[in-house]
Amino acid sequence: MPSTARSEAGLPGPVADLAAIRLQLRSWPEVEAYLERCRGVIVPLGSTEQHGPTGAIGTDALTAEAVALEVGRRTGVLVTPAQNFGMAEHHLGFAGTVSLQPSTLLAVLHDVVLSLARHGFERIFVINGHGGNIATARAAFAQAHGTAAARGLPVAERLRCQLANWFMAGPVMQEARSLYGDREGHHATPSEIALTLHLEPTLLAKHRPLDEPAPAGPIHGPDDFRRRHPDGRMGSDPFLAQPDHGERFLDLAATALATDLERFLAE
Ligand code: NI
Repeated sequence: MPSTARSEAGLPGPVADLAAIRLQLRSWPEVEAYLERCRGVIVPLGSTEQHGPTGAIGTDALTAEAVALEVGRRTGVLVTPAQNFGMAEHHLGFAGTVSLQPSTLLAVLHDVVLSLARHGFERIFVINGHGGNIATARAAFAQAHGTAAARGLPVAERLRCQLANWFMAGPVMQEARSLYGDREGHHATPSEIALTLHLEPTLLAKHRPLDEPAPAGPIHGPDDFRRRHPDGRMGSDPFLAQPDHGERFLDLAATALATDLERFLAE
């Protein structure tokens, strides 16, 4: 991409070192200086929940943060610390799951958006790794717009929030379909597990073939979920996942989302 296109879109441009785009490692004067040239910020949103008998509990958090950092590296847009607890009430029947109720997650995301908006961030790009967060994140954005206006924040009119679900990006879904077909399933999918194997090779030690998964179905409470999905998977065969697939998914997701982010900042 030529640098002129980048400046028109408000993108700071690629960075050589991830430290340059991690909010945690910036000082406040650096953030003020950043806001002079870019009003966009990326918020990784994950979940801490069971991913079948062989998948990592942190799958949705690890993947969302990895995609967010890669999009940040390619665009130069700041990345906040990840919100690693999500809405995972239906997974609470499995040990290790930590869930925020929808109202709690709504309050957390609302406050994150309002904090950023107060400093002058106008484009909040939430990179999400968990389907269960979608409805609540959208509700939080609606509420944040109302609060920004009610508080009279200078950015209220220009504030935009966008939810980017990396696992639903077109090229990611196409690649998952071509590699795994119907065995991609709906939870503990080989695509997300492949990305964790790429990021964290120690997870390969848990990788093993599994029995036929229970098919996907409606989601009710945690006890019902465990009854109908006894090992936690919904129609997926995570044993198909390979670390090199994960590297490919990371690239496809980052490419698609960096393009979405560029459009979002140029709006
Ligand atoms: Ni997941």
